[in-house]
Amino acid sequence: MTAYPIDLTVQPEVTAHFDAATNTISYIVKDPGSDACAIVDSVMDIDYAAGRITYDHADALIAEIEERGLTLEWIIETHVHADHLSAAPYLQQRLGGKIGIGSKIMEVQDTFGKIFNEGTEFQRDGSQFDALFEDGDTYRIGGMTAVALYTPGHTPACMVHVLGNAAFVGDTLFMPDGGSARADFPGGDAGQLYDSIQKVLSLPDEMRLFMCHDYGPGGRDIQWETSVAEEKANNIHVGGGKTREEFIRFRTERDAQLAMPKLIIPSLQVNMRAGTVPTDKDGRPMLKVPLNGL
Ligand SMILES: [Fe+2]
Repeated sequence: MTAYPIDLTVQPEVTAHFDAATNTISYIVKDPGSDACAIVDSVMDIDYAAGRITYDHADALIAEIEERGLTLEWIIETHVHADHLSAAPYLQQRLGGKIGIGSKIMEVQDTFGKIFNEGTEFQRDGSQFDALFEDGDTYRIGGMTAVALYTPGHTPACMVHVLGNAAFVGDTLFMPDGGSARADFPGGDAGQLYDSIQKVLSLPDEMRLFMCHDYGPGGRDIQWETSVAEEKANNIHVGGGKTREEFIRFRTERDAQLAMPKLIIPSLQVNMRAGTVPTDKDGRPMLKVPLNGL
């Protein structure tokens, strides 16, 4: 069992918005006792070939929040995503709320600040975000207490957020038939990912788990919700008592065969800035492509 302040009697309302372009699931999580809510892992749309950014996915989140008369208190990033761009600043401008991420964002900013050869104007202290969470930190969404659990491995800044009986696992676990996230990005580590997954699986069996991604393995319909008990029993990468050594061997071999995510170059540059698009010396929004840098 866990030492974190978990309260399964608090049952937030969770609505999911699936982004088919990136297989990402964004969530609106509402405090059961008030109109306060949080958004977990939003998406900004990009046509990378055209260099065009739009906001259909974020606008759908905004429309739901406005229709339900909710107050957005937090915009949570489970980590610096490498496969989609965050819409956090756009949501904040429209609805308010604080943008939060794990404090190890500073390590991620340092790593990718070098890879993208960012100048000194790119701060590597996490100051682009409103809140930086440490393991076990709590914050409030209306009357509901949220807890951030440090879960590195996929990236150094990954955190799982537990809101009542719902845990948002980011890129640690996928649905049981999807397994686990990759651990081969700069700063990733398969052993750490295994340990972080064990931390998630040490939550109560009935904890609802919400995925950040689903790819519909074997052609099944997209799914995003499971439970600790389900993952423990059936996860194809870590379920049924797989050992740390087995996992590291499997994960390392598998990752070596995976292509880079299509949007990794734009995603990292935007997401390490809390979703703000970088600008050139004349203030125009502009992205870079470091050759052979990743
Ligand atoms: Fe990710």
